[in-house]
Amino acid sequence: MDKALEIKFQKNTKIFKKNVLVRVDLNVPVVKGKISDFTKIYSLRETLLNLIKNKNKIFLLSHFGRPRGVFKKELSLQNIINEIQNSLKLNKLYFVKDYFGKEIEDTIKLMHTGEVCLLENIRFHKEEEKNIESFAEKFSYNFDVYINDAFSASHRSHASIVGITKFLPSYAGLMFEKEINALNSILNKSNKPALAIIGGSKVSTKITILENLVKKLDYLVIAGGMANTFLASKSIDVGLSKVEEKYFNLIKNIENNALESGCRIILPTDVITSKSLGDKNSVNETLVEKIKKNHQAFDIGSQSCAEIIKLFSEVKTVLWNGPLGAFEYKPFDNSTKIISTNLSLISKKKQINVVIGGGDTVSSINNLGVIEDFTYVSTSGGAFLEWLEGKELPGIYSLKHN
Ligand code: 3PG
Repeated sequence: MDKALEIKFQKNTKIFKKNVLVRVDLNVPVVKGKISDFTKIYSLRETLLNLIKNKNKIFLLSHFGRPRGVFKKELSLQNIINEIQNSLKLNKLYFVKDYFGKEIEDTIKLMHTGEVCLLENIRFHKEEEKNIESFAEKFSYNFDVYINDAFSASHRSHASIVGITKFLPSYAGLMFEKEINALNSILNKSNKPALAIIGGSKVSTKITILENLVKKLDYLVIAGGMANTFLASKSIDVGLSKVEEKYFNLIKNIENNALESGCRIILPTDVITSKSLGDKNSVNETLVEKIKKNHQAFDIGSQSCAEIIKLFSEVKTVLWNGPLGAFEYKPFDNSTKIISTNLSLISKKKQINVVIGGGDTVSSINNLGVIEDFTYVSTSGGAFLEWLEGKELPGIYSLKHN
């Protein structure tokens, strides 16, 4: 590989006594003024500890929500600074509103080596989302090194992800490195055969992912509401289940590509249906050919789950994205529970490589207490999905071309 196109990693570089700008993702969920999920924050600890140990002054730069270039009090990172400080176990956390000029310069002078400063929400500046180079150049002045540890924001072509890499020596942080290693492991030949389980409600949001994955993996399980459109495209009557007819032709193409590249597509053979999501009295488990005319399918059935579990013994890697059923409503959370419990057991025994990610997937298994058992669970939403689509993320591209 061309040396210039390799990402430089924090792990392989001695960054010592520098002013280090670390792009992190502190875009955490906040409920009634309190952070409700600290996963993104905890994941930064390793990167920070390494920089602290090496006597750097560390500046955390993040977005928070979508203020679209204007100051919004409720989206100030100052609102959650205490929780960030406590969860990162820091004795002190400085805060700087304006990162050009006197405030930041004075803070840098005040800080001791090994101390950390949080910078205000970068999206209060309209230049951020427009990736204005002069803006990136201006905020680079006070720093010596840039680290991107925000894989989950690296699908954004923004100044703090892309522009900044033109002005500072740039590295991928420890967390970022873990994420790309986990994702690359899915495609690694030594981890084949590989199976993807793709769920979710709509084909429209996953079509590019499916197109990409059939070319690269050995098995593709289609579940969730999406499976109804696949079944209907084969003239199976799925009752009142939502069907996206305009994707029938694209589904045919995906199936042809799968045949050509030797990827087996697996659709549910049975489903759990009812008249509506809230109607528990009409819940029925049935073969897909026998779905009642006035019912909708909301989950895959036990036979389909058994077929998926059987496949786990034939593969070395499982990638899972998207809930298998309408998991927020009992009993349609059944297959998601069964599959995650089974997968977590084999992953824990290190029998196979299991990578899970993308928005709802993690929330759908969050309460089951099995998250720690998987090889890797990504907290990235959009970035994870774009990677699955086969796109090179702007954040990765710019680290390579730094
Ligand atoms: C996320 O939460 O997925 C990231 O922080 C990206 O946020 P964004 O979709 O607002 O860019």
